[in-house]
Amino acid sequence: MPAPNAADLLVWYDRHRRSLPWRALPGERPDPYRVWASEIMLQQTTIAAVKPYFERFMARFPTVEALAVAPSEEVMQAWAGLGYYSRARNLHACAKAVAESHGGRFPDTEEGLRALPGIGAYTAGAVAAIAFDRAAAAVDGNVERVMTRLFAIEEALPGAKPLIREQVLALLPAARPGDFAQALMDLGATICTPRNPACGICPWREPCRARTAGTQESYPRKAAK
Ligand code: ADE
Repeated sequence: MPAPNAADLLVWYDRHRRSLPWRALPGERPDPYRVWASEIMLQQTTIAAVKPYFERFMARFPTVEALAVAPSEEVMQAWAGLGYYSRARNLHACAKAVAESHGGRFPDTEEGLRALPGIGAYTAGAVAAIAFDRAAAAVDGNVERVMTRLFAIEEALPGAKPLIREQVLALLPAARPGDFAQALMDLGATICTPRNPACGICPWREPCRARTAGTQESYPRKAAK
């Protein structure tokens, strides 16, 4: 069995990348503010539900400074419908911190990002990779599914998380880590789905251990109750 490599995934991504309102066009620099806001919104909400909110939110608060100086009632109002309101409070606190303590610029490292309100390991990795092209892992549920299948990881979640992270870091390409992060998310969302994954058209069908064994739907493993 061949080893999986990032290049095969990036070729697939270049052909099938989804056009999403927070994504930069190929060759353009992403706006860290838009990347960060989208990642917060996408934490417990689907892409389809987030899209219209994201567009309205960006029209109303086009920059991190605009968000920072907005009255909190206005921010909560723009958030209404997305739910999980602690996310909106943290979002506002984070915008204020960036505007007041960082001169309006998001930190460009995972460590710097993690020090901000509402930014945990996932969001710090996603923003560092996508907005700043840092060699960082952004492991969400989709990525967990892809990686546990690819390497037939037998350990159940959440115990398998450190190993999954390690495997993502080992696969990272030297160039385009941001596209790699988004390609992994897209692969999980569109090909490597929980049920009936489209293994026949997957760029990693050859190196995938679960697919080779025909056991893809049994990953990620569930802890015995
Ligand atoms: N889910 C969370 N963040 C995402 C992103 N940047 N692209 C696609 N799906 C995502």
